[in-house]
Amino acid sequence: MLFSSKKELVGIDVGSSSVKLVKLRESRGNYQLLNVGVFPLAVETIVDNTIMDSSAIVEAISNLIVGMKVKGKRVATSVSGHSVIIRKIMLSLMTEEELEASIQWEAEQYIPFDLSEVNIDFQILGPDSKDPSQMNVMLVAAKKDYIDDFVGVFSEAGLEPVVMDIDCFATENTFNVNYGFVEDEVVALVDVGASAVSVNVLKSDVSLFTRDIQAGGNLIREELQKRLGISSEEAEMAKMGGRSVDDVDPEAIDEVMVDAVDNLVQEVQRSLDFFAATSGDDKIIKIYLTGGVSKSQRVCAALEKKLGIPAEVIDPFRNISVNEKDFDLEYLKAIGPMLSVATGLAMRRVGDK
Ligand SMILES: Nc1ncnc2c1ncn2[C@@H]1O[C@H](COP(=O)(O)OP(=O)(O)OP(=O)(O)O)[C@@H](O)[C@H]1O
Ligand SMILES: [Mg+2]
Repeated sequence: MLFSSKKELVGIDVGSSSVKLVKLRESRGNYQLLNVGVFPLAVETIVDNTIMDSSAIVEAISNLIVGMKVKGKRVATSVSGHSVIIRKIMLSLMTEEELEASIQWEAEQYIPFDLSEVNIDFQILGPDSKDPSQMNVMLVAAKKDYIDDFVGVFSEAGLEPVVMDIDCFATENTFNVNYGFVEDEVVALVDVGASAVSVNVLKSDVSLFTRDIQAGGNLIREELQKRLGISSEEAEMAKMGGRSVDDVDPEAIDEVMVDAVDNLVQEVQRSLDFFAATSGDDKIIKIYLTGGVSKSQRVCAALEKKLGIPAEVIDPFRNISVNEKDFDLEYLKAIGPMLSVATGLAMRRVGDK
């Protein structure tokens, strides 16, 4: 297609444990995988959602771009965490233009930050099913200094971030393309990363509830480290269930793992209980998992058991053509759970919100 290579953006997800890159080519609604890569970050690079070592992230991004000879400088990226507020609100029916003009005023009561400190965006979801004189709106506010830090690393890497998304919306995009929504069916997308769990409950393609929980794979590692007196590296190894750790009884590891996974699952349950208490008749029929921690069979099984809802790990390339000559399919399968955000970002276009 003429100029087709110009419209595609490089999807880059800066996670707290690694930077992920995905580039796709789109032709008439079909996607093909062009580039994919993951570059690890040291634990102290991003702490509590704050960039502590921007040069390490610039280096990771540059390594991915140069190493894979990725073409194009325009990037779609995303943020998440406590500097980002996502609220579903109800307002009187009005047009997009009218809301654009009044959003600052409308948003004030929902945003716990000074409005001069945040960038505000919104999406009209449609009329309310119970009161058609009202409409539901997804309101998003992100702290400007937080966004500036992220934009800064891309500029330093010689790239141009043209779409700034939110992690859970990018995952929603990936889910939509690969699995699709079924009318009136309620599902939960749950991303269990290194430092955060994000929950997004959707009915058809409309978000009913979102929540970011400050818990993830790091908590399991820290628990192992603390209770078994082992190093961070050993704890990470034990968590993955790979090589055994010298002088540590596998049963002791197992015991800590059970408790740590239990705590994590409990956090997810608390969020979903809150959703259930406020959602009326809407019942979640399935959980779709993403994030590195969802690779753990133990975590998936514990979630299913505790919540009593079937869970499946998302394959972000389920409906994306992958040329076997260019990619190692086993490797793709192994890193797939970590790529839902980056894949959703790679599907974005300039002007998307
Ligand atoms: N097989 C596995 N079993 C258990 N945990 C795993 C496995 N593989 C990866 N992980 C964990 O997944 C986490 C990384 O996942 P992911 O890349 O989704 O996180 P991230 O995007 O960097 O973090 P965040 O989004 O929270 O900032 C790490 O905590 C890692 O230890
Ligand atoms: Mg992540």
